[in-house]
Amino acid sequence: MTGPLPPLTSIPRDLVSAGDYARRAQDHLPPATLAYLEGGAGDEITLRENTAAFSALKLAPRQLVDVKGGHTRLSLAGEQLAHPFLLAPVGWQKLFHPGGELEVARAAQAMDTVFAVSAVATTAIEALVVPGGAPVWFQIYMQASREATAGVVRLAEASGCRALIVTVDAPLAGLRNREQRAGFALPAHLEAENMPEVQPIPAAGEGAGVSRVFDQAMHTAPTWKDVDWLVRQTRLPVFVKGILHPDDAARAVETGAAGVVVSNHGGRVLDTAPAALHALPAVAARLNGAVPILLDSGIRRGADAFKAIALGATAVMVGRPYIHALAVAGALGVAHLLRTLREELEITMALTGCARLADITADHLWRGPESPT
Ligand code: FNR
Repeated sequence: MTGPLPPLTSIPRDLVSAGDYARRAQDHLPPATLAYLEGGAGDEITLRENTAAFSALKLAPRQLVDVKGGHTRLSLAGEQLAHPFLLAPVGWQKLFHPGGELEVARAAQAMDTVFAVSAVATTAIEALVVPGGAPVWFQIYMQASREATAGVVRLAEASGCRALIVTVDAPLAGLRNREQRAGFALPAHLEAENMPEVQPIPAAGEGAGVSRVFDQAMHTAPTWKDVDWLVRQTRLPVFVKGILHPDDAARAVETGAAGVVVSNHGGRVLDTAPAALHALPAVAARLNGAVPILLDSGIRRGADAFKAIALGATAVMVGRPYIHALAVAGALGVAHLLRTLREELEITMALTGCARLADITADHLWRGPESPT
């Protein structure tokens, strides 16, 4: 039996899409790690819906439009970005490549992309920030104590991170059955390098009759009051990630958040939650341009970003696709994937008659008899 292949040092010619990287990544990762990466909660219905929602939505090609001088630039939270593909926070990246987050950070710098570093990154945040370079954002989970959370915020600020993302949709770990069946466990040598000493969760009790959910995990889980507090702790823009309901989006804006991330965590937390794309229009309608909206969960093609933008997103984040590219070919793979997504988006824009991201509207989605909307 042979183990997983080491990362490649050049890109084979048959790797031309995110799907190609996803297939090729199977050869580069052990089965239990793959189950952790690919799996979703429960029966993985939301996981499948995330991509199916994009496939079902059709484009409306428009011919003979002058798109000379077109581009994919945008400004977001004070940053000028070359394209709308951000790298979503994904934990424990040394599971997927020995260089982990450092490889991803290099690709992000080369491709002028925001790298949102996970709360459970396996690399010290200071090593990932390039002064004056492409922005690095830091994702946080609220800790059991405010002191601990404030410590993480100070670390992110001192390291030169330019925005925070607070992830609110995973106060407890989703039941990822695929991962459970594969017996996935984090290797002992990996550590969350930027986390404060993990405090034991003060359990309300033990034994029969005690709920592991309500009496333990949720006992110290954050509420909106904690997000209000967090936003006041920092001058950095704070994005609230994991929003699906328009009322929650409005509540996030009330806290003073700089933006929201419409996301179901890549289908990893609550199965049969809606596809992120399906949740987007109502959120966009409610926020009515008050703050930028990012979307993740299911982005696999440049055309998917186009569809999300048409329905109200400012930009998108990708999760698993860049991890596949990381496993296959490190920084080179991630940079190549980003270039591919950007080119796919440019082609989609050109063929639908959109010269700029601001030109992309719901009018560029097919509303004919075959339309699901
Ligand atoms: C994640 N995601 C995630 N989100 C977060 O806020 N903090 C984290 O540490 C992680 N870790 C993580 C690990 C793995 C293996 C995956 C696949 C995902 C969720 C991530 O930011 C993003 O929401 C989804 O990955 C987007 O869906 P796609 O692009 O994977 O379909």
